[in-house]
Amino acid sequence: MAGRLIVVEEVGSTQDLARDMAMAGEPDGTAVMALRQTRGRGRLGRTWISPPGRNVALSIILRPPMAPEEATLMGLLASMAVADALEERGVSGIGLRWPNDVLVGGKKIAGILSEATLVDRSVEFLILGIGLNVNGRESDFPSDLMTPATSLYLCTAVESNIEQVARDLIQRFGSLYERAKVEGCGFIPPAWERRWLHKNMWLHHEGTVGIGLGIDAQGALLLEKDGGHVERVTSGEVVPGPAA
Ligand code: BTN
Repeated sequence: MAGRLIVVEEVGSTQDLARDMAMAGEPDGTAVMALRQTRGRGRLGRTWISPPGRNVALSIILRPPMAPEEATLMGLLASMAVADALEERGVSGIGLRWPNDVLVGGKKIAGILSEATLVDRSVEFLILGIGLNVNGRESDFPSDLMTPATSLYLCTAVESNIEQVARDLIQRFGSLYERAKVEGCGFIPPAWERRWLHKNMWLHHEGTVGIGLGIDAQGALLLEKDGGHVERVTSGEVVPGPAA
């Protein structure tokens, strides 16, 4: 994936800019990054707030030659690339929360938003959005977040160049993406599970509770309910909590 990286000063959401470019024919692998987003979006209709100039706000245009069910795995793959990049920069205690949040010591450092455009039940393009807290300080994060936040700076006491971090993420994600295109997506679930924080723990999902068994070949979370029934979770919020 040797796409170009376009850096803009300010945009509503890099997701929207990347989608417009994809609709105009931009090829697989082009990425856009903004120093400031005024309408950053998170998963589940949430807002993604990020102080200007301090964090990576990046969207990558993908045209994955995969069925929509497999393309879902690209978000998980991006969380793996972020985790690898952080580890390389000396961060320890990194773990993943389904589907694709990256946490350090229980605090969220990165989130991924994957938005697909389908035509005739196949993926025309997918916009993979990565928000990574790089140089943020404690005071940059609202105190009422559902999951407390952290940043690369707070983990390492080292300031990083956000464009370099973005290029590193693109390169790491690109190698994993090329591997998935060549050999298929079979390697993703076991690799993702190695960094998963909640294996065999009680997890709450939309008012129900079950034990986290793992993910299936399409990235769906497998929750074992009372009585042994296994539920496939494909969306929503999943948090650890007390047993039923
Ligand atoms: C989440 O954890 O809810 C996902 C957050 C994704 C944020 C990134 S920042 C770059 C891209 N542009 C957006 O508007 N959102 C994603």
